[in-house]
Amino acid sequence: MSGTDDSLWIFDQRHGWVWTGEAIFPNLYQPFFGEWWQLGDGDFGERHFYNYWTASWIAEAEGNEAWLEARVGTALQYARRQGVAWLNQVPADQFPDETLSSGAWEPRPITVWVSGFYPAIFWRLYEFTGFPQFRTEAMRRTLMIETQRTRTNTHDLGFIVFLPTLLAMRHSDDPRHEETILIAAQSLASRYSATVGATRSWDWGVFRQGNRFTVIVDNMMNLELLIWASQRHEQLAGYYEMAVTHADTTMREHFREDDSTWHVVVFDERDGSVELKRTWQGYADDSTWSRGQAWAIYGYISMYRLTGEERYLDQALRALDYYMANLPPDGVPYYDFDAPLVNAPARDSSAAAIVASALLELEGLVENGEIYREMAVDMLNMLASPQYLALGHPEQSILRRGSHSHSRQDRGLIYGDYYFLEAIARWMGED
Ligand code: GLY
Repeated sequence: MSGTDDSLWIFDQRHGWVWTGEAIFPNLYQPFFGEWWQLGDGDFGERHFYNYWTASWIAEAEGNEAWLEARVGTALQYARRQGVAWLNQVPADQFPDETLSSGAWEPRPITVWVSGFYPAIFWRLYEFTGFPQFRTEAMRRTLMIETQRTRTNTHDLGFIVFLPTLLAMRHSDDPRHEETILIAAQSLASRYSATVGATRSWDWGVFRQGNRFTVIVDNMMNLELLIWASQRHEQLAGYYEMAVTHADTTMREHFREDDSTWHVVVFDERDGSVELKRTWQGYADDSTWSRGQAWAIYGYISMYRLTGEERYLDQALRALDYYMANLPPDGVPYYDFDAPLVNAPARDSSAAAIVASALLELEGLVENGEIYREMAVDMLNMLASPQYLALGHPEQSILRRGSHSHSRQDRGLIYGDYYFLEAIARWMGED
């Protein structure tokens, strides 16, 4: 305990530092989560806190899962409200990507790599709420996305097409959805090089110059599309090997000795040799961009689920060890693990949401799964608190404090919102 009667800091083993004062007690401010609580008196027989953020009482003895249940209640109510507002705020033929400094979504064309997250969020919102207008918007947008399935100029077909279309298949038995996914898989497979052992990521600028063949760690997120197609269509069975080879190439070339990741690896397409390694969105060429590390963790956990190959589980766990060891105390990474702390680097809430969701998948794949659930619950408790939820802030997003890269920081990101909702669904056992 320290301070005066007017301004008193109290340390408690369970809740950390809380601030109060004679004039405001029994109200307390808990700075870690940024929440106001009220200490309950003896009516309940044991100490209770009323959390103003979640508008609910929590018993002292209740653990992190109970605190999360309350915070998720607030977060989902807010997400539902945002979803309804977006129906008017977002132009019918555009897709949100990041929030602008005004807080409004910056609308982008359907060709942008994030376009699939918006319908995917509406599918999730529909699953959480059953609101028919969410289903209508999810389906309308998913059908718009079909136009992207023949694109061979992007590797992002997993995000753009596979994600919302697979969710659509839960709610519709129209065979067009499967056809769309199979066509998207063929488009992605057209970017595969057996010489390099990977699908090509970028077709632009220096990354496509001469014989350059560029692969970014993010591309791990597209492999499920290839495996899914290989298991549904005999003629596409070879895509399984493509995905496995890509994952093995990334394991060999994108990881450093300490299991941190290079963002970008540029190969020579003539012989598969590595020409250079660098970053595009991180702090420096040899630094570790936190969302890249998150994509790697998520991607190798998915590959383990899809193939049962232990080497992918090992790689995911090693990447996770690096990630966990380099987190700040609140469990939400700086945009880059090597960004100098003196410059107060921005956080990336989207990386935290991606990892939380991946950990909740990992929970069901391994024997000691509860330890991964506990990690995810801590991350979600923070994301759903006033520190990261956009409730009460100008952002039109669900989460705030996301960073696209070293130059576009501290904003809402549509993919942060999607993986936050996916993680909540997995935490509820509803995925
Ligand atoms: N390319 C995906 C990302 O920015 O994370």
